[in-house]
Amino acid sequence: MTVCIALTKGRLEKQFLDFFHSLSFDIEPLVNKGRKLTVQSGPFEFIFAKGVDVATYVEYGIADLGIIGEDILLEYQPDVFDLLPLPFGYCRFALAAEKNQQPADKKRRIASKYPNITTAYFRKKGESVDVVKLEGSVELAPILGLADAIVDLVETGTTLKENGLVIYEELHRISARCIANRSALKIKRNELMPIIQAFQSKEEIK
Ligand code: PRP
Repeated sequence: MTVCIALTKGRLEKQFLDFFHSLSFDIEPLVNKGRKLTVQSGPFEFIFAKGVDVATYVEYGIADLGIIGEDILLEYQPDVFDLLPLPFGYCRFALAAEKNQQPADKKRRIASKYPNITTAYFRKKGESVDVVKLEGSVELAPILGLADAIVDLVETGTTLKENGLVIYEELHRISARCIANRSALKIKRNELMPIIQAFQSKEEIK
């Protein structure tokens, strides 16, 4: 039985391929896939999608396993089995704003790609804020005056730095995760266990 693995396109894709290669799996068909969105490689079928769509493909059982940033699990809470953390995709959620920001004298407006995480964070702090949902380049919002601050993922810190923003608070540290379809875990147990164990072995050594 083929095992279908959904991969998050972009930064996580590259890091997953390095990880998968380090476990002695053949990544050649994946490296040379061009613009193809599905790739057959030995017993695996890989599909390439945006993170939130990876969760959807796994939730609906199209993919058996998914490689996803924990940000997607926290923000969208998809109905999938959160199997294990993976040793890559490390970053943190941070509240960032322009340097030397004065304390707010009115309700703050916070821009983010993650409105649920942002809302939950400020609710826990007991501060009432307005949250503005953006789809990307969130760092623009404080610079252009759309928002007082942002809640966003920081990996290297380069985007913040090059746009004159600084971190005021850190919310969560996250990594990539391996998720699974709940039924596939039972039905395809024999096929999935060796892969899951290989992923785990690397995590333990680290
Ligand atoms: C993410 C994130 C930050 C940036 C952080 O955006 O939202 O903007 O990466 O990375 P850094 O700390 O290494 O600079 P992404 O590159 O996914 O693009 P987007 O803004 O279009 O969502």
